[in-house]
Amino acid sequence: MKVLLTGSKGQLGSCFQDRLPDGWEIWATDSDVLDITDLDKVKQAVTQFKPNVIVNAAAYTAVDKAETDRELAARINETGPKNLALAANEVGARLVHVSTDYVFDGNATKPYVEEDATNPLGVYGKTKLDGEIAVAEVQPDAIIIRTAWVFSEYGNNFVKTMLRLAKERDTLAIVADQRGCPTYAGDIAQAIIDLIQKKSQGGVYHFCGDTEVAWSDFASVIFNVALEREVLEKKPIVNNIISSDYPTLAKRPSYSVLDCGKIRSENIDMSNWKSALEEVLLKLK
Ligand SMILES: NC(=O)c1ccc[n+]([C@@H]2O[C@H](COP(=O)([O-])OP(=O)(O)OC[C@H]3O[C@@H](n4cnc5c(N)ncnc54)[C@H](OP(=O)(O)O)[C@@H]3O)[C@@H](O)[C@H]2O)c1
Repeated sequence: MKVLLTGSKGQLGSCFQDRLPDGWEIWATDSDVLDITDLDKVKQAVTQFKPNVIVNAAAYTAVDKAETDRELAARINETGPKNLALAANEVGARLVHVSTDYVFDGNATKPYVEEDATNPLGVYGKTKLDGEIAVAEVQPDAIIIRTAWVFSEYGNNFVKTMLRLAKERDTLAIVADQRGCPTYAGDIAQAIIDLIQKKSQGGVYHFCGDTEVAWSDFASVIFNVALEREVLEKKPIVNNIISSDYPTLAKRPSYSVLDCGKIRSENIDMSNWKSALEEVLLKLK
């Protein structure tokens, strides 16, 4: 198996390299080596390396910044994946692309299945949805994984932000009216490897953590485990607030729980995020 990985220095890209199966050859690239928005460079890289699979872990992930940086977000989240799909087709490689729960508007009352209507509330979600559509048009059997609330020992994420704030403050106000499923990037990486090895059918798959929480619950779990594992010496008091008390540039879905029945039918377990969180906290200690 020859894999071309993009976004190799991000959370998912880093975790993917850590889990690479024995015998797989990888060319791990990030924006400094291979800018996915440059079609000529992408085609040149792909035709030279001739991968069997391209795993796209590159993305514009700054949800609020995207609201005022629409053009760059669209180039990275839509044009980039399309370029990869076009290049993949030239060498017969399969594209694995990653998308987000923010393609939904959050008005559902039960977990979203892959076929549910999309309606992103912000620029990030819109550009990620456009990326999904572009990939599926160019390579209909590409694998597209929608995931949510990603954390890991790498990069920037909610877990690291909470640990930093816990050291600075005694009380934290955290949003309690947005519900979703935290997902460990290492588990997404493993799910991608499993789907590749199983030669799974293409299309969209939902993959996320196995229990839903509000951001405020997620913060409380982080603080409890961090205190227990002596990552923190004290834990702050969490005050529940509503989204309107914490205005952000981008509107976020109030409910973005993903139904993972399709990927589970391929014998791939959902992310056991609480146990992954313990391991991540120990690594960050
Ligand atoms: N983070 C979340 O909570 C979350 C939630 C749902 C879905 N997702 C999706 O999950 C996937 C992985 O997310 P992540 O959290 O691992 O992302 P991340 O940590 O932000 O990493 C993204 C990587 O993409 C690279 N990149 C940006 N522009 C690029 C370009 N033009 N060419 C090549 N590489 C480029 C970045 O490199 P530079 O630093 O050099 O720019 C960075 O290394 C993404 O598709 C994301 O949309 C994430």
